[in-house]
Amino acid sequence: MEVIRAKDKMRQVAEDWRREGLVVGFVPTMGALHDGHLSLIRRCVAECDRCVVSIYVNPTQFGPTEDFKQYPRPFEEDVRKCADAGVHCVFAPTDEQMYPAGFGTYVEPHKELSGCMCGAHRPGHFRGVCTIVAKLFNIVRPHRAYFGQKDYQQFLILKRMVDDLDFGVEMVLCDIVREPEGLALSSRNTYLSEQERKEALCLRKALRAAADAVAAGERNAEKILNAARNVLKKFPSVKVQYLELRDASTLKPVVLLDKTAVLGIAVYVGRTRLIDNVLLAPGRGEVGADDV
Ligand code: PAJ
Repeated sequence: MEVIRAKDKMRQVAEDWRREGLVVGFVPTMGALHDGHLSLIRRCVAECDRCVVSIYVNPTQFGPTEDFKQYPRPFEEDVRKCADAGVHCVFAPTDEQMYPAGFGTYVEPHKELSGCMCGAHRPGHFRGVCTIVAKLFNIVRPHRAYFGQKDYQQFLILKRMVDDLDFGVEMVLCDIVREPEGLALSSRNTYLSEQERKEALCLRKALRAAADAVAAGERNAEKILNAARNVLKKFPSVKVQYLELRDASTLKPVVLLDKTAVLGIAVYVGRTRLIDNVLLAPGRGEVGADDV
């Protein structure tokens, strides 16, 4: 497995693969790889002839008061995990490679998809995500790219970017990987104390209560949301940033659940911001990433 830092080298390697007729798969990440990332990576390795993983903590998607500086960067360990998973190439560019002096062009995310949920609370975040992913796609030029449902809004926004700007990349959505007790794996879980880890279970418990209500036939959005709110009330130290039920393709608010929707949540547990979501189909309850 090769570790590449220069974008011209990366472009050349991927272009050579393409020319040989190989299917190039791509998994963009910010590193601190856990089993959630590895599930995307393993699927990419299994479904494509070549798998490129990028590791880059992208400064433009962090707000001024966010955790860019303290974001974990266990690079050697990440590289070893990629090699063990059968990755062909890790692309780990420097800031100078991605944002050289004079850089000034950004990709504006679709307004309707980015004006709610995380987008409403992290101004500029999805603009930074779209910009870096557009750059990475232009360098790697993958046939397919793999993303996690964990960041469902990110996936929808990037898929729309790919469609609107004709990137010609097939976008693959993968299920959320969780700890046995239900906490979605996240690089930010390392910030949590023992006590906070217990409190963080409120995310999954709240989403599950809503999913149970939907499975039992509930279609009224307020009642579905209330099922989740009632669970959250039992965790008074957790600060809910948003809890929103939205159409799974347009992210428009849902009043009556008549097609698949996403119930998204963001909370602060102590100083750590955590997100989670569940896809809900009327009469069925929770469905997987393959169902949207
Ligand atoms: P990062 O947070 O490192 O996540 C990389 C990919 O892993 C994303 O597609 C994310 O949804 C997925 N992922 C994270 N936790 C997961 C889990 N528990 N189960 C399944 N998949 C999971 O998302 C980013 O990086 C960045 O915004 C990026 C797209 C790389 C642009 O900088």
